[in-house]
Formats: sequence, structure tokens, C-alpha cells
Amino acid sequence: MSKLTNCLLKKDPSCRPVWFMRQAGRYLPEFREIRQKNKDFIKLCLNSNLSSEITLQPIQRFNLDAAIIFSDILMVPYGLGQEVKFIKDEGPILSPFNLEIFKKNNFDKFKDKLNPIYEAIKLTRKNLDKQKSLIGFIGAPWTLIVYMFGLKKNKEELDLNILKQKEEEIRETINLLIEYLCLHIELQFKAGAEVIQIFDSWAGLIPEAKLSDYCFEPNKKIVQFCKNNKIPVICFPRNLNKNYLKFADIVKPDCLSLDYKIDPTWAKENLKNYCLQGGMDPKILFEKEDIIFKEVDKYLTIFKDRPYIFNLGHGLLPQTNPDVLQKVIERVNNFK
Ligand code: CP3
Repeated sequence: MSKLTNCLLKKDPSCRPVWFMRQAGRYLPEFREIRQKNKDFIKLCLNSNLSSEITLQPIQRFNLDAAIIFSDILMVPYGLGQEVKFIKDEGPILSPFNLEIFKKNNFDKFKDKLNPIYEAIKLTRKNLDKQKSLIGFIGAPWTLIVYMFGLKKNKEELDLNILKQKEEEIRETINLLIEYLCLHIELQFKAGAEVIQIFDSWAGLIPEAKLSDYCFEPNKKIVQFCKNNKIPVICFPRNLNKNYLKFADIVKPDCLSLDYKIDPTWAKENLKNYCLQGGMDPKILFEKEDIIFKEVDKYLTIFKDRPYIFNLGHGLLPQTNPDVLQKVIERVNNFK
């Protein structure tokens, strides 16, 4: 069993797996080199050889316990017929959503469109050490809806008027999305991804009264699907604050990934029966070495007697220095 699955399933506190969200990304010069020659991000995600090569880049450089397949949560809306464009410094833009067209999808069409992702997973699994895990992932329904319906007014705020107007359409879309997300999980798992992470990056934007419909229940259904199929699953309901507790009680994933606004001591005391992951602010990596190490040690000490996966409270930022990351990984691996 790999260190990561041992921690997730056996809840063994003695192993201390480490990996990072966005570990294959723009902070690596070798990624930027490939990216520069491949301007179309979706096409790059659908190039199985390059996707696999990028997935393995951080593994070649660092002593990490897991690789995460190079793809994107927006490949699912793409697979379901929406156009997805990544505009520099603006983020992703999707073509207008149309429920009637969306309903015309079927599993075979979806599978064919996203087949290169599953091929990339097969290829990566072949070239990855047996002791290392390969992580597949999805975006949770709500987080995908935010992009599919263009719900954001700006970086931090939702357009609550659209949210109210489209309530019925959103409900129907979430239910359909769950079916395709479970299929996407199953196909990633069958191709060789042995752990799944569910990113609910915009969970923190949901009005309290809608948390159950938009966050807890959809995540619960997908986690239940994973459990029924014996697929280990990590949930990342970002910025839920104290509602992490409610999320944990209702959704019951194998592991909860913490964002950097969660106090780790609070998490340790309140999320008692869970394997936990991450938490440290990615911006700490811009500080001086002694400050970084102090923060790394803080997380490792708090979670010393718990099943804990070292990671950050969100993805690595593009300005991160890979040599600093190298030192952090050594620190984690040598921690006694
Ligand atoms: O290394 C890994 O973590 C695996 C690959 C991965 C990517 N995106 C590659 C990527 C994963 C797991 C994701 C998840 C993802 N994508 C999320 C959830 C995690 C989070 O960050 O909250 C979200 C919300 C998206 C949607 C998305 N994709 C956005 C908002 C952006 C643009 C902003 C940005 O960071 O550039 C992307 C593009 C994207 N996805 C990049 C990468 C490496 C950057 C693309 C580039 O090179 O320009």
C-alpha cells in the first residue's frame, strides 16, 4: 500500500505523505516551457503524452508521495459541450449555458470526448513508482456551476440575482452533473487513479440557507458513490469556516483538506475522526526560510498523532520558488 492510501484508509499516523495542489504548474520552468509551445490549455489537457509528462515533472524533481493528473475541473463542462477558454490574468470563460443542449449529452459521447484524460492516467500509472499514488479529481457540482453559469460578480462575490433567478435550472443541472461526475471518477479510477480529490473551491460563497442543496448533499452523493466503489476520497470544501464540521458529519469523506483560514488546532480538536490534509497558507512560501520552517513544523506538530497528509491550504502560486519547495519537502520527510 502506498503512503497516501495507508494514511487515508488505515489511518496510520506514522506515515506522513506529502504532495501539493497545483504541483504541476507555472512555478516550474519545465512546465512553462511546454505551456509556451501549447497555447490552447484544453488541447494541452487532451494531449495524453504531454499531460502525462507534465504530471510527472514534479515527481522527477521532488520526493513526493503522489502525482495528481494534469487536467482541469473544467474539462467536465467541456466534455458536456460548453466551450471553455482560459484568458490570461482573467481566468476561465465558458460559453453561455443552455440546459436543453446540456440534456442532450450521453455517457458514450462524454467518455469519447474525455478519453485522452483516461489514456494519460494509464500512461502515467505505468511510469510512476508503485509506492507513489496517482490522484484523479473532479470539481464539485457547485464549483462547476459557478463557472458554467458565470455566477461570479468578481473574485470574491456572487451575483445573487442570477442565483435566485436560476434556482430551478441550477437544481436540475446539479443532479445531472452528479451522474457525469461519478462517471468521470469511475473512468479515472479504472484507468489507474487510486485516490480522488473533490475540489469545492467556491463552497465558501454559498448563502447559508443553500449550503445543504448546493454543497453538502451533492458532495455526499458523490462520496457515497466513491465509498460504494471502494475509491478513497478527499474533499476540499474551501472557505466553509466552522461549517467544515457540518460538512464532515454529513458528507463523511475519507479525508478533509483544510484551507488556510482554518485554525489547525481547531481542526484537530473538532474534526477528530478524520484524516486531515493541508492547511498551510501557500503565501508562507514567499517568506524567509526560518519563518517557513516554523510554520511547516507547526502543522506537523499539531497533527503529529493524527493521520495527516502534508499539503497547503490552496494551490501552489506561480511565483513559488521550486528550490524553496524542495526544502519544505525535505523538512516534512525528515520530521521526527
Ligand atoms: O497540479 C495539479 O493540481 C493538477 C492539475 C489541476 C489544474 N487545475 C491545472 C491548471 C487541478 C487539480 C486544477 C483544479 C482547478 N481548476 C480548480 C480547483 C482548485 C482551485 O484552484 O481552487 C479550479 C477552480 C480550476 C479552474 C481553473 N483552471 C482556474 C480558475 C484557472 C485559472 C487560474 C490559474 O490558476 O491560472 C485554471 C487554469 C489552470 N489549471 C492552470 C493549471 C496548471 C494554469 C494554466 C496556465 O498555465 O495558464
